[in-house]
Amino acid sequence: MTHPTTPAAGTTHGKRTATKKPWYGTVPGLKIFVTPVATSPVLTGEEDAAGSAAAVSDAPVSSRRPVDVPPFERPGSVLRASSGAAARGWYAPRLAGAPSTTRQAEILNTGIIGAPTGIDGVVNGTDTLSSTMISHDAPTAYNATPRKLTSPNVLIIGTVGSGKSSFTKTVMVMRPLLLKNHRAVVFDKKDEGGEGEYAGVTRRMGTEPLRFDPDGSGTRFNLMDPLIARGTGLQGQMLLINAVARIARGDTPATEWEEKATRYALQLLFEKFQDTRRAATTTDLMPFLGLVPVDQGLSGEASERFHQAGLSIRFGLQNLLETYAGVFDGETSQQVDLSHKLTTFDISQLPDSGPAIPTVMAIGNMWLMGRLREERGFVTNVIYEEGWHMIGGPSAQLVKSNQKLSRSLGISNVFVMHKGTDIPPDSPGYTVVQEAQTVYAFRQDRPEDARWAQETFNFAPDTAATLMGLNPGHCVFKYGSNPETHIRHIRSDWEVEVTNTDSAMAAGNATT
Ligand SMILES: Nc1ncnc2c1ncn2[C@@H]1O[C@H](COP(=O)(O)OP(=O)(O)O)[C@@H](O)[C@H]1O
Ligand SMILES: [Mg+2]
Repeated sequence: MTHPTTPAAGTTHGKRTATKKPWYGTVPGLKIFVTPVATSPVLTGEEDAAGSAAAVSDAPVSSRRPVDVPPFERPGSVLRASSGAAARGWYAPRLAGAPSTTRQAEILNTGIIGAPTGIDGVVNGTDTLSSTMISHDAPTAYNATPRKLTSPNVLIIGTVGSGKSSFTKTVMVMRPLLLKNHRAVVFDKKDEGGEGEYAGVTRRMGTEPLRFDPDGSGTRFNLMDPLIARGTGLQGQMLLINAVARIARGDTPATEWEEKATRYALQLLFEKFQDTRRAATTTDLMPFLGLVPVDQGLSGEASERFHQAGLSIRFGLQNLLETYAGVFDGETSQQVDLSHKLTTFDISQLPDSGPAIPTVMAIGNMWLMGRLREERGFVTNVIYEEGWHMIGGPSAQLVKSNQKLSRSLGISNVFVMHKGTDIPPDSPGYTVVQEAQTVYAFRQDRPEDARWAQETFNFAPDTAATLMGLNPGHCVFKYGSNPETHIRHIRSDWEVEVTNTDSAMAAGNATT
């Protein structure tokens, strides 16, 4: 058995060199500074290598571990070993020691002082642990070199009254608009005194919300808007019609036959409207749904089936048009444009259930793609309040299929919703959620919802409990694969004024 050899300092080829005593070795008072000399005989590596393991274990205690380096022979600070000085406290540390080792204390410190984000982007609030500023803007982080995120999409979840909308209005809408070439588009769902809750914010930005009204007095969105096909092609137009037909028919997906019949109708429509100055509308599509191609040699039975498949889509869309004639029938309203930094689609007056809201969101999403193609170089935050209308149902496929295109057009989709458990785990919406690289989780009321968030976004296990105890305006924030942090969202006075959803109530109090 051989041991590693470490020649002891002060030895040459195993022979001890005699250490000469310094001149102060005999002077009283100074001799305490003389380096003490090891008294035991020291075996060198060579001697050890020669001896057997048994010989080593038989050796006297002082020489049993020959590879050890005697400390006194190492160069280093002079040992001060005066018992008198020690008794008088000369060697005592000046400060009281910490009840921890330096290494442990270092770890505690990083947790306390390390800022979780840099200073780029938009101020979100403060980290409750370190009290440092949290600054993050998904598109800014996505556009950084190197990229800090792989997707600019954002997910904001939280129960009613947890502070999601206040946060969204400030951090996703008002503050980013101060950045160069940033703008925002909002689908405003919550009714507050007869109009959407973003109405106040929109007016402060110098424009009016685009109001959708079932009675036909408001804004109109054309399912067949030319910008849709210009942005995403015939395929995109097909996807949209399929999604809308599915929404209109109570979540019944189109069969192969129905898809084929729709595609055929679309081709006929595009041919007819190629040269006309007027844009095609949904009503124009209707007569083509149900037509059967004559040149494909379909049997009588197949022709009948094809015809019926077309009619089935036609009736679904017709129902939608009849119920919401003022919203979907005709060309898109002139004022629907992105001429302002903030565009608000006020859908607060459309009925909560039924096809209107998800259809407006779906058409809006596709319209945006086409519109943004005409004007590149902008970052557009697109906010879906009650975002599960968009990613909880048939429209999720649109978002998923258009991920790449929307990234290249500078779109950052922000989905605001109560809880993630509304999204079926095997749906395209679930993929969209998983791919969002920025998550703000506000309070969750039910343990299963908190657990869903914890598992889906890979939060620490005890964060599920944290989520259930968050106060309004507090959230758990995570971006990329960085560990989550607990944020307190801070608003300025005027932001409080604009964002508080109970402002109607407060105003009522003030006047009475
Ligand atoms: N950052 C905050 N600090 C303190 N209170 C807040 C904060 N954000 C929101 N709140 C309070 O919570 C209420 C509900 O906020 P809101 O954003 O409408 O919630 P949600 O959209 O989740 O339903 C607000 O009216 C306000 O009183
Ligand atoms: Mg809200």
